Amino acid sequence: MSSHPVHPESTTRAPLDASRLKVEKNPKAGTPPPPEQLVFGQTFTDHMLVVPWTAEGGWGEPKIQAYSPLSLQPSSIIFHYAPSLFEGLKAYKNPKGEVRLFRPDMNAARMNRSAERISLPTFDGDELVKLLKKLVEIDANWVPEKEGYSLYLRPTLIGTQPSLGVGETKEALLFVIMSPVGPYYSSVVKPVALEANPERVRAWPGGTGDAKLGANYGPCILPQREAAKKGYQQNLWLFGDEHYLTEVGTMNLFVVLKNDDGSYEVVTPPLNGMILPGVTRDSVLGLLRAHESGQSPLSNLPKIHVSEREIKMQELQDAAAQGKLVEVFGAGTAAVISPVDRIGYQGKDIHVPVTSSGFGPVAEVMLNTLSAIQWGKVEHPWSVPVSK
Ligand code: COI
Repeated sequence: MSSHPVHPESTTRAPLDASRLKVEKNPKAGTPPPPEQLVFGQTFTDHMLVVPWTAEGGWGEPKIQAYSPLSLQPSSIIFHYAPSLFEGLKAYKNPKGEVRLFRPDMNAARMNRSAERISLPTFDGDELVKLLKKLVEIDANWVPEKEGYSLYLRPTLIGTQPSLGVGETKEALLFVIMSPVGPYYSSVVKPVALEANPERVRAWPGGTGDAKLGANYGPCILPQREAAKKGYQQNLWLFGDEHYLTEVGTMNLFVVLKNDDGSYEVVTPPLNGMILPGVTRDSVLGLLRAHESGQSPLSNLPKIHVSEREIKMQELQDAAAQGKLVEVFGAGTAAVISPVDRIGYQGKDIHVPVTSSGFGPVAEVMLNTLSAIQWGKVEHPWSVPVSK
C-alpha cells in the first residue's frame, strides 16, 4: 500500500502505473556540453517523461520519449487560469559512477499536496519515483560527473482541457524534463543581499504559499527586479503589520541567534500555510535536531536549539544591534544553502555576519553535510540509487 494520498475519485480510474511504461528512444541523442558551460535550466537532456490523464480514464500510459515541444490548444485551461504545479529535485553521480536521487519520495508527496490544492489529479507517489528513476537511468550520461554538478529534474503537472470554463480540468498532463546544472556558486561563495519590503507579499493565510504552484512564482519576478534596481539580489518576504519574516527569494529562511551562554538558536518560520515545506528545509531541520539531541552530533557546531517559530523584523534588528545575530541563510534545492550578508529594511541596511568563507558557521556545516549525503560520500537513507 502506498503512503502517498490518492484522490478518492481516482480509485475507479486507472492509477498511475510505472509497469505500463513505454520507452521510445530519441534517435537524435545529443552530447552534453562541458559542465563549465552550463547555465541553470537552459540545457535539456535527450528524453522526457509524459503521462496524460483524463477524468474518464484516469492515468494513461507513461511514456519516455525524445525531449520535444508540447502541442496544446490555445483554449487549454493552463493558458488561462494557471492550473500548474512543479517540483525540483536533483540526481548526483559519485566518483564510482553511481547515480542517486535526493529524497524523491518527499517531492512526490508534495506534488500530490500541490495537486489537491489546485484541483489537478493525484497519483501514487511511489509509481512516480519508479518512473523518475527510469528516466534518469536512460539519460544517465547527462548526469555531470564533476563534483558540485548535478542533474536537475523538473516534474510538472498542468491542466490541459480545451475550455474557458473556470472549473476542475477534465484533462491533464504530467511531464518530467531534466537539465544538467552547475554549482550555484562558482569558486567563491557570494552571500546575497536581501530587500525586505513589506509592500510586497508572497503568500497569505488561506492562500497557496505552501503549495509549489507555478502561479506563486510569476508574481515574485517584479519585486525581485525592483530589489535588483536598488542593489539587492533577492527579496526577504515579510507578512503582516508586525513584519513577520517568511521566506527568502524562492527559498526557505533560517536565522541563527546567539544565546547568552554561547549556544545558538536556529529559527525557521513554522509551516503555517504560508511557508513552502521545502525538502532542503526539512533536511536541515533533521540534521540540526539530530545534533541537538546528541543522536548524531556535527563537528564545528556549538550547542543548538532548533525552533520552528515566528520571527519579526524587530527581533532581527534587535539581535543585530546587540551582536546576537549569528547568520541568516536560505535553503532550497537549486542553491542548497545560500548565505545572506545584508538586509535592506525601512531605508537602512542590517549587516549580517559572514566568515571569510562567505558563510556563517551553521550554513557552512549544513552545506558540507548535505553535499556529502547527496554525493553518496556517506551512506544515508536520503540518497537513493536510481538502479535499485
Ligand atoms: C529552489 O530553490 O529549489 C527553487 O524552487 C528554485 C526554482 C524555482 C528554480
